[in-house]
Amino acid sequence: MDGNGRWATRKGLPRIAGHREGVKSLKCIVRLCADLGIRYVTAYAFSSENWKRPVSEVSGLMKLFYETLASELEDLNKNGVKIILLGDRGNIPEKVLKRFQEAEEITENNKKVILNIAFNYGARQEIINSVKKICSLLNEGSIKADEINEKIFSDFLYTKDLPDPDLLIRTSGEYRISNFLLWQTAYSEFYFTRTLWPDFRENEFFKAISEYQKRNRRFGKI
Ligand code: IPE
Ligand code: MG
Repeated sequence: MDGNGRWATRKGLPRIAGHREGVKSLKCIVRLCADLGIRYVTAYAFSSENWKRPVSEVSGLMKLFYETLASELEDLNKNGVKIILLGDRGNIPEKVLKRFQEAEEITENNKKVILNIAFNYGARQEIINSVKKICSLLNEGSIKADEINEKIFSDFLYTKDLPDPDLLIRTSGEYRISNFLLWQTAYSEFYFTRTLWPDFRENEFFKAISEYQKRNRRFGKI
């Protein structure tokens, strides 16, 4: 979900106005996914590197997450959306983490759309965590080195139990992955658009989906 800041700046607004508009795009996309039968959506909301932004922006974003989780929860729950936080829960401000946990508990049994919010997320750290957990299994003697496989490795990622993404969309004309789902996107289709995230609504989403439908996925086969 990239381009919120630029969207606001172009309109002469403070950057937070772009983030607020970006929330509306996410709501729109989640609703479309429910309509289209897309069961898994993962939104890159805040990376482990985003803490390095100016304090005022970080606190504005934290407030926005905190408020949005509360204001949207009832609707999301009614629409069968299950919320999962993907990320390092260790250093998330307590108030925000509590809201996430509440949202996870309340929506736990919903099945229509699984909405993963990547928050305080970094893929390299996620991979290191998995390695550490496997190392402790090795040290305990519960597994042997040559038993380590993709399944065991994936089971220690935040995304355990989730299928790999079919389609990854990045908005705002940046052509990079920025430490997002490095392991999980090995065979994902990538779609890049210059559209800024706050402008990414129904038409833009349908363009991405129809582009995806033209792709020929071979997974290394012919
Ligand atoms: C994406 O928009 C939202 C977050 C990373 C929280 P940006 O804030 O990165 O917007 P630009 O890239 O500055 O336009
Ligand atoms: Mg950006």
